[in-house]
Amino acid sequence: NIGLVNSEKDLLAKCLSFNNSKVAVLGAAGGIGQPLSLLLKNSPLVSQLSLYDIAHTPGVAADLSHIETRAKVTGYLGPEQLGECLKGCEVVVIPAGVPRKPGMTRDDLFTTNATIVAVLSEACARHCPEAMMCIISNPVNSTIPITSEIFKKHGVYNPNKIFGVSTLDIVRANTFVAELKGLDPARVSVPVIGGHAGKTIIPIISQCTPKVEFNQDQLVTLIARIQEAGTEVVKAKAGAGSATLSMAYAGARFVFSLLDAMNGKEGVVECAFVRSEETEMPYFSTPLLLGKNGIEKNLGMGKLTPFEEKLVAEAMAELKGSIKKGEDFVKSAK
Ligand SMILES: NC(=O)c1ccc[n+]([C@@H]2O[C@H](COP(=O)([O-])OP(=O)(O)OC[C@H]3O[C@@H](n4cnc5c(N)ncnc54)[C@H](O)[C@@H]3O)[C@@H](O)[C@H]2O)c1
Repeated sequence: NIGLVNSEKDLLAKCLSFNNSKVAVLGAAGGIGQPLSLLLKNSPLVSQLSLYDIAHTPGVAADLSHIETRAKVTGYLGPEQLGECLKGCEVVVIPAGVPRKPGMTRDDLFTTNATIVAVLSEACARHCPEAMMCIISNPVNSTIPITSEIFKKHGVYNPNKIFGVSTLDIVRANTFVAELKGLDPARVSVPVIGGHAGKTIIPIISQCTPKVEFNQDQLVTLIARIQEAGTEVVKAKAGAGSATLSMAYAGARFVFSLLDAMNGKEGVVECAFVRSEETEMPYFSTPLLLGKNGIEKNLGMGKLTPFEEKLVAEAMAELKGSIKKGEDFVKSAK
């Protein structure tokens, strides 16, 4: 006892908890998983980093563990080590699953990735039901309903803690707007709402800060580029996969925002694909105010232009189908 008054004890507790977050990456040896784990290892917000995959995690963990930052890195290999990996985790990030090849849509990944996400979510519901779940595996429009249904099955569902990571769409929108307007991309902020596939990706350029003006033709071209940016990378990689480095950056940005908010930072806002009551869709991405317990407040779509309203209306049918596909997948499983 060093004779602290209550307010000092509170402050000390805050400081001590600041660095104590256990984060797991499931699919940690993959194209996204490795650079994402590197960025997490480099952060003072993470004290323990649990890396799980069905291949190569001992090597990735040994490699990262030599970096002179305090996060303790542990590798876990194969299903029998998954429970141990998840114990005590506050945040779980899932980039496990197969990526697209040229000519494929995100939905073409459903059969393989639905099972992977279901198995991993099942383990999380058992071993760390309180953790924030950040799902990167595609198709995000279906994998979030899958994780949600699995958590419901286990009686541990908290819609404020399950996030479909769509941050890469925001990152791309910021970059492309900055390029066109000669701005510093770090100072541009474009909300992207809807979902995370093709036409369901809806950048709200009218709400960009700083305010930017485009004529209708420029706007249509810009929005199409943001919606197809993933395919741009898939084509350029010519069979070697989809976005990994920019996705690792975006995934880390989302996790750091979440950890900041969990540690008590105020005013942290990120868009993510979550359970929602903002439209007739049960899941929808909008800007979210994050807090200690995940989503503190859904900030909604805000005021849209008639053109943006039309984009939202046109996304609904695809979104509905993808959400139902995810929900049905879990309902029909034994
Ligand atoms: N949300 C987004 O914006 C976004 C962006 C890009 C890619 N993605 C998606 O992320 C996923 C991963 O992409 P990638 O390029 O890293 O693929 P990758 O093939 O390079 O890596 C995937 C990793 O998952 C692992 N894995 C497979 N089954 C597993 C299981 N059952 N348990 C644990 N790990 C398992 C593999 O061993 C591999 O290491 C894909 O589904 C891709 O579509 C999402």
